[in-house]
Amino acid sequence: MSATCEHPLFARAWTSVLGRNAMGWSDRADLVDGLHGRVLEVGAGDGLNFEHYGDGVTEVVAVEPEPHLRAAAVARDIQRITVVEGVAETLPLEDASVDAVVACLVLCTVGSQAAALAEIARVLRPGGELRFYEHVAATGTLGRATQRALDGSGLWPRLAGGCHLTRDTESAIRAAGFTLPDGDLRHFRVSLVPHVAGRALRA
Ligand SMILES: C[S@@+](CC[C@H](N)C(=O)[O-])C[C@H]1O[C@@H](n2cnc3c(N)ncnc32)[C@H](O)[C@@H]1O
Repeated sequence: MSATCEHPLFARAWTSVLGRNAMGWSDRADLVDGLHGRVLEVGAGDGLNFEHYGDGVTEVVAVEPEPHLRAAAVARDIQRITVVEGVAETLPLEDASVDAVVACLVLCTVGSQAAALAEIARVLRPGGELRFYEHVAATGTLGRATQRALDGSGLWPRLAGGCHLTRDTESAIRAAGFTLPDGDLRHFRVSLVPHVAGRALRA
Protein backbone atom coordinates (compact mmCIF):
# COMPACT_ATOMS: atom_id res chain seq x y z
CA MET A 1 0.00 0.00 0.00
CA SER A 2 1.28 3.49 -0.88
CA ALA A 3 2.33 5.62 2.08
CA THR A 4 0.96 8.73 0.37
CA CYS A 5 -2.53 9.84 -0.59
CA GLU A 6 -3.18 13.15 -2.28
CA HIS A 7 -6.29 15.23 -1.63
CA PRO A 8 -5.06 18.74 -2.44
CA LEU A 9 -8.41 20.56 -2.33
CA PHE A 10 -9.56 18.86 0.87
CA ALA A 11 -6.14 19.45 2.45
CA ARG A 12 -6.30 23.19 1.73
CA ALA A 13 -9.87 23.40 3.02
CA TRP A 14 -8.81 21.50 6.17
CA THR A 15 -5.87 23.78 6.93
CA SER A 16 -7.80 26.99 6.22
CA VAL A 17 -11.16 26.39 7.89
CA LEU A 18 -12.43 22.81 8.32
CA GLY A 19 -9.85 21.53 10.80
CA ARG A 20 -10.40 24.30 13.33
CA ASN A 21 -14.17 23.83 13.18
CA ALA A 22 -14.38 20.03 13.05
CA MET A 23 -14.12 19.74 16.84
CA GLY A 24 -13.70 21.97 19.86
CA TRP A 25 -10.29 23.03 21.10
CA SER A 26 -11.03 21.59 24.54
CA ASP A 27 -12.02 18.26 22.93
CA ARG A 28 -8.57 18.12 21.35
CA ALA A 29 -6.99 18.83 24.74
CA ASP A 30 -9.17 16.16 26.43
CA LEU A 31 -8.26 13.61 23.77
CA VAL A 32 -4.57 13.61 24.67
CA ASP A 33 -4.88 14.59 28.33
CA GLY A 34 -2.68 12.55 30.68
CA LEU A 35 -0.78 10.67 27.98
CA HIS A 36 2.84 9.91 28.70
CA GLY A 37 5.91 8.40 27.12
CA ARG A 38 6.15 7.75 23.38
CA VAL A 39 2.95 8.49 21.45
CA LEU A 40 1.96 7.74 17.87
CA GLU A 41 -0.63 9.98 16.22
CA VAL A 42 -2.08 8.39 13.07
CA GLY A 43 -3.36 10.67 10.32
CA ALA A 44 -2.21 13.74 12.21
CA GLY A 45 -3.32 16.13 9.45
CA ASP A 46 -1.73 19.56 9.83
CA GLY A 47 -1.00 18.93 13.50
CA LEU A 48 -3.92 20.58 15.28
CA ASN A 49 -3.45 18.27 18.28
CA PHE A 50 0.26 18.93 18.68
CA GLU A 51 0.09 21.83 21.13
CA HIS A 52 -2.10 19.81 23.49
CA TYR A 53 0.44 17.10 24.33
CA GLY A 54 1.47 17.49 27.96
CA ASP A 55 4.85 17.38 29.64
CA GLY A 56 4.56 13.64 30.30
CA VAL A 57 4.85 12.92 26.58
CA THR A 58 8.50 12.42 25.70
CA GLU A 59 8.07 11.93 21.94
CA VAL A 60 5.28 12.05 19.36
CA VAL A 61 5.61 10.28 16.03
CA ALA A 62 2.97 11.81 13.75
CA VAL A 63 2.15 9.73 10.67
CA GLU A 64 0.46 11.60 7.81
CA PRO A 65 0.09 10.44 4.18
CA GLU A 66 -1.22 13.65 2.54
CA PRO A 67 1.69 15.84 1.33
CA HIS A 68 0.11 19.28 1.87
CA LEU A 69 -1.13 18.37 5.36
CA ARG A 70 2.19 16.74 6.22
CA ALA A 71 4.11 19.87 5.16
CA ALA A 72 1.82 22.01 7.34
CA ALA A 73 2.41 19.65 10.29
CA VAL A 74 6.19 19.75 9.76
CA ALA A 75 6.05 23.56 9.60
CA ARG A 76 4.75 23.68 13.18
CA ASP A 77 8.29 22.65 14.10
CA ILE A 78 7.48 21.49 17.63
CA GLN A 79 10.20 19.88 19.73
CA ARG A 80 9.48 16.23 20.63
CA ILE A 81 7.27 15.83 17.51
CA THR A 82 8.51 14.03 14.41
CA VAL A 83 6.23 14.04 11.37
CA VAL A 84 6.63 11.11 8.97
CA GLU A 85 5.02 9.89 5.77
CA GLY A 86 2.91 6.76 6.14
CA VAL A 87 -0.52 5.18 6.43
CA ALA A 88 -2.22 3.52 9.37
CA GLU A 89 -2.49 0.20 7.53
CA THR A 90 1.32 -0.22 7.37
CA LEU A 91 2.81 1.81 10.18
CA PRO A 92 6.53 2.61 9.99
CA LEU A 93 7.16 1.63 13.62
CA GLU A 94 8.49 -1.38 15.52
CA ASP A 95 6.26 -3.83 17.41
CA ALA A 96 5.26 -2.71 20.94
CA SER A 97 7.23 0.53 20.52
CA VAL A 98 4.71 3.17 21.73
CA ASP A 99 2.82 3.78 24.97
CA ALA A 100 -0.24 5.29 23.32
CA VAL A 101 -1.83 5.88 19.92
CA VAL A 102 -4.09 8.81 19.03
CA ALA A 103 -6.68 8.47 16.25
CA CYS A 104 -8.66 11.67 15.70
CA LEU A 105 -11.19 11.84 12.86
CA VAL A 106 -9.11 9.35 10.87
CA LEU A 107 -10.69 5.88 11.21
CA CYS A 108 -13.49 7.23 8.99
CA THR A 109 -10.94 7.67 6.21
CA VAL A 110 -8.44 4.79 6.38
CA GLY A 111 -8.77 2.27 3.55
CA SER A 112 -9.28 -0.63 5.98
CA GLN A 113 -10.27 -0.14 9.61
CA ALA A 114 -9.39 -3.77 10.42
CA ALA A 115 -5.88 -3.42 8.96
CA ALA A 116 -5.32 -0.02 10.61
CA LEU A 117 -6.46 -1.26 14.03
CA ALA A 118 -4.34 -4.43 13.73
CA GLU A 119 -1.32 -2.21 13.03
CA ILE A 120 -2.18 0.08 15.94
CA ALA A 121 -2.38 -2.98 18.23
CA ARG A 122 0.96 -4.23 16.86
CA VAL A 123 2.87 -1.02 17.62
CA LEU A 124 1.28 -0.46 21.05
CA ARG A 125 3.03 -1.99 24.04
CA PRO A 126 0.93 -4.49 26.07
CA GLY A 127 -1.37 -2.42 28.30
CA GLY A 128 -0.94 0.63 26.07
CA GLU A 129 -3.95 2.69 25.07
CA LEU A 130 -5.65 3.94 21.94
CA ARG A 131 -7.28 7.37 22.35
CA PHE A 132 -9.93 8.01 19.72
CA TYR A 133 -12.38 10.70 18.64
CA GLU A 134 -14.39 9.69 15.58
CA HIS A 135 -17.66 10.41 13.81
CA VAL A 136 -19.68 7.25 13.22
CA ALA A 137 -22.75 5.79 11.52
CA ALA A 138 -26.15 7.11 12.56
CA THR A 139 -28.51 4.71 14.33
CA GLY A 140 -31.78 6.33 13.15
CA THR A 141 -33.34 5.24 9.85
CA LEU A 142 -33.27 8.65 8.18
CA GLY A 143 -29.75 9.51 9.28
CA ARG A 144 -28.48 6.11 8.19
CA ALA A 145 -30.18 6.36 4.79
CA THR A 146 -28.74 9.85 4.23
CA GLN A 147 -25.25 8.71 5.19
CA ARG A 148 -25.52 5.61 2.95
CA ALA A 149 -26.62 7.75 0.01
CA LEU A 150 -23.73 10.19 0.49
CA ASP A 151 -21.14 7.42 0.89
CA GLY A 152 -22.61 5.25 -1.89
CA SER A 153 -22.72 8.08 -4.42
CA GLY A 154 -19.01 8.61 -3.92
CA LEU A 155 -19.75 12.31 -3.50
CA TRP A 156 -18.91 12.56 0.20
CA PRO A 157 -15.66 10.56 0.02
CA ARG A 158 -14.54 12.71 -2.95
CA LEU A 159 -15.35 15.98 -1.20
CA ALA A 160 -14.02 14.97 2.19
CA GLY A 161 -10.63 13.46 1.42
CA GLY A 162 -11.77 9.81 1.40
CA CYS A 163 -13.98 10.05 4.52
CA HIS A 164 -16.90 7.61 5.02
CA LEU A 165 -19.96 8.38 7.12
CA THR A 166 -21.30 4.88 7.70
CA ARG A 167 -18.59 3.26 9.79
CA ASP A 168 -19.25 1.48 13.09
CA THR A 169 -15.88 2.38 14.57
CA GLU A 170 -16.64 1.29 18.14
CA SER A 171 -17.39 -2.26 16.94
CA ALA A 172 -14.27 -2.26 14.78
CA ILE A 173 -12.12 -1.29 17.78
CA ARG A 174 -13.67 -4.07 19.89
CA ALA A 175 -13.25 -6.57 17.02
CA ALA A 176 -9.53 -5.71 16.92
CA GLY A 177 -9.23 -7.05 20.48
CA PHE A 178 -9.23 -3.80 22.46
CA THR A 179 -11.08 -3.40 25.77
CA LEU A 180 -13.16 -0.22 26.13
CA PRO A 181 -13.57 0.81 29.78
CA ASP A 182 -17.24 1.93 30.15
CA GLY A 183 -16.57 5.09 32.13
CA ASP A 184 -14.25 6.41 29.41
CA LEU A 185 -16.61 5.98 26.46
CA ARG A 186 -18.65 8.98 25.23
CA HIS A 187 -21.38 8.99 22.59
CA PHE A 188 -22.43 12.45 21.45
CA ARG A 189 -23.42 14.53 18.46
CA VAL A 190 -21.62 17.36 16.70
CA SER A 191 -23.97 19.26 14.36
CA LEU A 192 -26.33 16.23 14.37
CA VAL A 193 -23.54 13.82 13.37
CA PRO A 194 -23.02 10.96 15.87
CA HIS A 195 -19.54 10.66 17.36
CA VAL A 196 -17.74 8.30 19.71
CA ALA A 197 -14.69 9.15 21.80
CA GLY A 198 -12.74 7.43 24.52
CA ARG A 199 -9.85 5.14 25.26
CA ALA A 200 -9.30 1.52 24.35
CA LEU A 201 -6.78 -0.73 26.04
CA ARG A 202 -4.55 -3.25 24.32
CA ALA A 203 -4.38 -6.60 26.14
C1 LIG B 1 -10.32 14.61 8.77
S1 LIG B 1 -8.59 14.64 8.69
C2 LIG B 1 -8.14 14.69 10.43
C3 LIG B 1 -6.76 15.21 10.66
C4 LIG B 1 -6.31 15.22 12.12
N1 LIG B 1 -6.34 13.90 12.71
C5 LIG B 1 -7.11 16.19 12.94
O1 LIG B 1 -7.85 15.75 13.82
O2 LIG B 1 -7.00 17.40 12.71
C6 LIG B 1 -8.22 12.93 8.25
C7 LIG B 1 -6.73 12.66 8.16
O3 LIG B 1 -6.48 11.26 7.93
C8 LIG B 1 -5.43 11.17 6.98
N2 LIG B 1 -5.49 9.85 6.34
C9 LIG B 1 -6.19 9.47 5.25
N3 LIG B 1 -5.98 8.17 4.98
C10 LIG B 1 -5.12 7.72 5.92
C11 LIG B 1 -4.51 6.46 6.17
N4 LIG B 1 -4.77 5.39 5.40
N5 LIG B 1 -3.67 6.35 7.23
C12 LIG B 1 -3.41 7.42 8.03
N6 LIG B 1 -3.97 8.64 7.82
C13 LIG B 1 -4.82 8.79 6.79
C14 LIG B 1 -5.70 12.33 6.05
O4 LIG B 1 -4.60 12.63 5.22
C15 LIG B 1 -6.05 13.42 7.05
O5 LIG B 1 -4.91 14.03 7.57
